[in-house]
Amino acid sequence: MRVHVADHPLIKHKLTYLRDERTDSPTFRRLAEELVTLLAYEATREVRVEPFEINTPVAPTSGIKLANPKPVIVPILRAGLGMLEGMTRLLPSAEVGFLGMVRDEHTLEVSAYANRLPESLHGRQVFVIDPMLATGHTLVMAFEFLRDLGADDITAVCLLGAPEGIEAVRETADSLGIPVTLVLGSIDEKLDENGYIVPGLGDAGDRLYGVV
Ligand code: URA
Repeated sequence: MRVHVADHPLIKHKLTYLRDERTDSPTFRRLAEELVTLLAYEATREVRVEPFEINTPVAPTSGIKLANPKPVIVPILRAGLGMLEGMTRLLPSAEVGFLGMVRDEHTLEVSAYANRLPESLHGRQVFVIDPMLATGHTLVMAFEFLRDLGADDITAVCLLGAPEGIEAVRETADSLGIPVTLVLGSIDEKLDENGYIVPGLGDAGDRLYGVV
């Protein structure tokens, strides 16, 4: 698995305000969107393209466009929804599928409760978006789920990751037999005893959408 930590002052700046407990939900949502657009730029470096010919007002020339089949963006519900707008801004022609995963607050075990995805992801590049890579259980399950549907190239985009979670994901990713890339805004220090990323930013879903 290739791990890429996006190192840019604007990413650090936006992350600082996301982490700050005084940042309210509307500002948090806007910052998360802006941050994802910057991460998406890194995450799409290897997006598949094909050449095609155009005419400028002056001369014929060749360019590139996104290849078919188009990539699929998969937000992990619920917090991944807060990253969708930022991602589709860069990849407007991508299809969007949904995967609902929930983590038991006590056991930290993850289970899938919903999915709306193409029947086959064969030959598709898949971009999974989930803000917090904590224990890694969610991404591990998501990767297995997507590979079983035929995905043959997976990139996960997360705002923050904990070293423990990254290692867990690496183990699974390396056994899938397909290219897997992880793009992160930051690798934080550790997980606490409740499975929260330290220093982190708290519960991303709650900060995006309130405690429901
Ligand atoms: N999920 C979150 O929203 N925050 C964490 O710190 C860990 C998991």
